[in-house]
Amino acid sequence: MNPTVFVSRMIPHTALDIVTAVCDAEVNTADTHLSQADLMARVQGKEGLLCLLTDEINEAILAAATQLKVVANVAVGFNNIDVQAASRRKILVTNTPGVLDDTTADFAWCLLLASARKLVEADRFTRAGQFTGWGIMLFCGEDVSGKTLGICGLGRIGRGMARRAKGFDMRILYTDAVRAPAEVEAALDARFVDKETLFRESDFVTLHVPLLPETRHLIDAAELRMMKRTAYLVNAARGPVVNEAALVQALSEGWIAGAGLDVYEEEPKIHPGLLSLPNVVLAPHIASASRDTRLAMATLAVRNCVAVLEGKPPITPVA
Ligand code: GLV
Repeated sequence: MNPTVFVSRMIPHTALDIVTAVCDAEVNTADTHLSQADLMARVQGKEGLLCLLTDEINEAILAAATQLKVVANVAVGFNNIDVQAASRRKILVTNTPGVLDDTTADFAWCLLLASARKLVEADRFTRAGQFTGWGIMLFCGEDVSGKTLGICGLGRIGRGMARRAKGFDMRILYTDAVRAPAEVEAALDARFVDKETLFRESDFVTLHVPLLPETRHLIDAAELRMMKRTAYLVNAARGPVVNEAALVQALSEGWIAGAGLDVYEEEPKIHPGLLSLPNVVLAPHIASASRDTRLAMATLAVRNCVAVLEGKPPITPVA
């Protein structure tokens, strides 16, 4: 008998085919998020769960899924899963590190450049027929080249940000819970500093930390107040790393110049204050959304799931 799997939301067919070839897979073929009640009902009796970051895999879901052996998340972040509760039940949890680093760093750079150079605002202006002629101060933004980039979290994606920053001749500062090896710092030309130095000296602060109790509201009013009035904040990590209400105040009152956001505190809800501000670029959590990368993420998640169900070790278990 084939192992049973529930796929909580549609994934690319090439990846789905790998699981359906060797498992009895039930698939939520709609590209919509299931309610907790639906998820709970459909995971019952399944040995594998392939889920997305929009699914909250909590104690109640795990308790209902008494046959479950593996939860394979199609995301590198796994704050949507109660990993401790899963471990207590001897359920393995996997994620998709490595395959999305470049794509995510590329997009964080899109947010950085688009914010600094007011691209979205200028696009709206142009479409609205307001471009009546060249103006010397029309949509003047800030230079990026030669400025200071502050990276919070020098993991795989943070390092990708630093590599790209070298092409812009930037000075690179970083902060992290653990200092990177000296050879990594040397290769990236990145200087380890305390948080306060990073916030005070950076022209651009970019966030690449996982969401943990200690990183929730890592950027709060105090940090925003430390930043330069000309500085920009980029968040393509997780929404709750930033206190969104404090950010709205900072953007409205000019404590900082602008922000580029891909993630929000209560996704998919967005703080209403952000929607009306011109100095923030808003994206719908798409930093890893290239066709190749989303396929690679889905494929890695499927391979993790199948490996566990075949009695093999998963490729990328969550530590
Ligand atoms: C995307 O946000 C991911 O964690 O993969």
